[in-house]
Amino acid sequence: MAVTKEDVTEVLRQVNYPGYSRDIVSFGLVQKLDVDDQTIKIHLVVRSNDSSIAQTIKKEVETILKKAYPDHRNEVVAETQEPPQFKTTSTQERDKFLPNIKYKVAVASGKGGVGKSTVAVNLAIAMAKLGHKVGLLDADIYGPSIPLMLGITEKPLFDGQKIITIEKFGVHLMSLGFLIDNSEAVIWRGALVHRALQQLMNDVAWPDLDIILFDMPPGTGDAQLTLSQSVALDGAVIVSTPQDVALIDAIKGVQMFRKVNVPIMGIVENMSYFVCPHCGERTDIFAHGGVAKACAQMNTELLGEIPIDAAIREGGDEGIPVVVKQPESPQSEAFLDIAKRIFHKISG
Ligand SMILES: Nc1ncnc2c1ncn2[C@@H]1O[C@H](COP(=O)(O)OP(=O)(O)O)[C@@H](O)[C@H]1O
Ligand SMILES: [Mg+2]
Repeated sequence: MAVTKEDVTEVLRQVNYPGYSRDIVSFGLVQKLDVDDQTIKIHLVVRSNDSSIAQTIKKEVETILKKAYPDHRNEVVAETQEPPQFKTTSTQERDKFLPNIKYKVAVASGKGGVGKSTVAVNLAIAMAKLGHKVGLLDADIYGPSIPLMLGITEKPLFDGQKIITIEKFGVHLMSLGFLIDNSEAVIWRGALVHRALQQLMNDVAWPDLDIILFDMPPGTGDAQLTLSQSVALDGAVIVSTPQDVALIDAIKGVQMFRKVNVPIMGIVENMSYFVCPHCGERTDIFAHGGVAKACAQMNTELLGEIPIDAAIREGGDEGIPVVVKQPESPQSEAFLDIAKRIFHKISG
């Protein structure tokens, strides 16, 4: 049987970044991968000041390929590039934010309206159901929607020093939506975005947590930059619909996070397909499968597929997310599966 890119990618996942428990694929080091009947060509880019790291990885990759595909020749190029320079925040300063939270994961999309907040909310609750201590920071400063999706109408309390998170469905939440008037049109730019986000981290009494999810605004703008500069993110989960337009933006999102050295955990395909509630027949409304293909191209994982479903939308509108309202449904199972997968990936 012919060797595919996917096969080789799986093999490469056995190679860890030197000194880390994370593999080179999830670190986003594989820039190009070509396979034919005789040759496997791999181009790796290592962003480091230490060029010996690229050499170590190259040797390991060559060894493992030789073992897995003895009949193929392999051409492995491991290039060293300068790591990106952040002007504002030192590593030390990055550790200042949310030091009592173990894992920090951004939920992002290139485009609005793809269901990023819906996915973030249901994933957060699913993680809490799995027994983790979970926080959710609504970082969509342009359109904070999490309070509505969780049916929270009260305002958070202030303990004299810090703002107290609101707990709902087992998730600790903070949102700019609590702190500003809904009718205020907010046009945030540069420094203001930076300050607003940092306040949501620093001026809030976040409890000790296993994980915090950041529901990001769409796109690749100031908020994404601030977040990746302010905290050491363990990874980013990209949400996309199978439509081409959404996918193009998802790819941009993947590239942006990789540029700032945030590992991509994978892509969630939302509104993936429709199951008729009457006859149970499945329809692929938007050409289903596009995300899986893009994942293979970008050497990242398809984390799961969420159907388009009235209960999911109603859950959001009513403030009772589907994983709470219909915990046994296939939609909820899909969210639980993704939550498990994410934990599996970050905890190595
Ligand atoms: N899988 C789904 N099935 C049905 N409706 C969905 C699904 N995902 C999201 N929606 C709905 O689509 C709209 C946009 O979702 P939202 O999560 O706010 O997107 P984003 O945060 O990316 O802008 C909301 O009305 C939401 O209820
Ligand atoms: Mg949103």
